[in-house]
Amino acid sequence: METQGRPGVPGGLILGIESSCDETAAAVVRAGGDVLANVVASQIALHAKYGGVVPELASREHLRNIVPVVRAAMAEAGVGFDELDAIAVTEGPGLAGALLVGITYAKALAMALGKPLIAVNHLEGHIHAVLMEARQKEQAMEMPLLALVVSGGHTHLYVAEENTGTWQYRNVGRTVDDAAGEAFDKVAKLLGLGYPGGPWMDALAKEGNPRAVEFRFQQIKARHGEVENDSSYAQHFSFSGIKTAVLRYIQTHGMGAGVEARRRALGDALKANPAMRAAEALREMPEVFDQQTLDLIASFQFAVVGNLMRQTFAAAEALGARGIVVSGGVSANSELRRRFAEEAERRGLRVEFPTMAMSTDNAAMIAAAAWGKFCAGEFAAEGLVATPGLKLG
Ligand code: KG4
Ligand code: ZN
Repeated sequence: METQGRPGVPGGLILGIESSCDETAAAVVRAGGDVLANVVASQIALHAKYGGVVPELASREHLRNIVPVVRAAMAEAGVGFDELDAIAVTEGPGLAGALLVGITYAKALAMALGKPLIAVNHLEGHIHAVLMEARQKEQAMEMPLLALVVSGGHTHLYVAEENTGTWQYRNVGRTVDDAAGEAFDKVAKLLGLGYPGGPWMDALAKEGNPRAVEFRFQQIKARHGEVENDSSYAQHFSFSGIKTAVLRYIQTHGMGAGVEARRRALGDALKANPAMRAAEALREMPEVFDQQTLDLIASFQFAVVGNLMRQTFAAAEALGARGIVVSGGVSANSELRRRFAEEAERRGLRVEFPTMAMSTDNAAMIAAAAWGKFCAGEFAAEGLVATPGLKLG
C-alpha cells in the first residue's frame, strides 16, 4: 500500500463501492466527475439459469469478487489507497446480504486507512450517473429536475434540486406493484426468453408490430394518480396488470405450445452459449420467433414505454421541471430513449440518459453521488447498517 500522495493527482478522490444486487462494482472518481476507473463484475450469467437473482448466491459472489474488483479499480486508476480522500458505499436499497458485503468491506477499509466513509442511496447514485455525464459534457442540468429511476427493482419519480452542493429529493411517484424492469423480465419469462428479459424484449420488439395488441393503462392512472396540490402531487405506476394481460393473451390465443418449444430450444442454445444475445438467437434460430410473439413483444414494450412517458411528462409539466433525467437498467431501452427524446423535443424540454455503461449498476455513480456529501462533510456513523428498504426523499 502506498503511503505518499503522488504529485499530479489532485484531491477529491473517492473510491465508490456498490454491491446492492447482482453486480460487484468499484470505481475511483475525482471530484464527482472525473472517472479514473469503473470496474464491474457482473453475476448475470450465474443467476440466469435460475431466471432471477438468488440472494444467497449473490452474497457469496460479492464476497468472492469484492477484493479483486477493488484492487482492479485502484490499479486502473493508478492511485494508491492512501491517496484516497474517502470511501463511498451503497447503504440501500437492495438485497440485505449483498449490501452487507460492500458495507462491511468499505467500513473496514475506511477504518484501516483512517479515511471518512460516505453512505450513498443507490437510487441517488442512478440519478447522479446522468448528472455526472451531463457535467462532463459541460452541460449541467437546470433545476428543478425530474428524475425517473426505472430498473428491475424500482420505478420512481423524484423532483431533485441542488442547493449549494446539497441535493434534495422529493418522491412524486412510485410503482404500486411491479417495477417496470421486473415486468420486462416476467413477460420475457412467460414467453420463454432469456434472462434478464429487458434486452431480449428490446431487440425482439424491433421485429414486431407495436399496434398489434392494445394494452390499456387508463384505469391504473385514474385509480392511483392523484393531483391535489403541488406538495401532494403523485404520479404512481402499476405494471402487474399488463403482465397478467400478456399471460391471458398467451392462453387465449393458443400460444402455450410455441412458448414451451421456444423455452426448450433457447434453453439449450443458452447452455451452449450463455453470452448469446437476442439478435444472434433471432438470426440463428428464426423458427422459434413467430410473428404473433414478436407482435406481442412489440405491443407490450410500446404500452410500457408509453405509460412511463405519459406519466413522466405529465409530472414534469405539473411540477415545472426544467429537465428530465432517466436512469436505471430500463433506461437502456432503445424505444424508451427514442420516444422520450422525441417528446422532450416537442415540448422544448431537455431529457438526459446515461451512457449504456452508466445505465446499469456501477460504482462510479456511487462515488459521484458521494461528492456533494464529501464537500458538506456528511460522513457515515460508525454504526452504519445495510438498509434494504432505504427510501429517497
Ligand atoms: O439498474 P439495473 O441494472 O438493476 C436494478 O437495480 O434492478 O436494472 C436491471 C433491469 C432488468 O429488469 C433488465 O431487464 C432491465 O433493467 N433492462 C432493460 C433493458 N436493459 C436492461 N429493460 C428494457 N430494455 C432494455 N434494453
Ligand atoms: Zn440499480
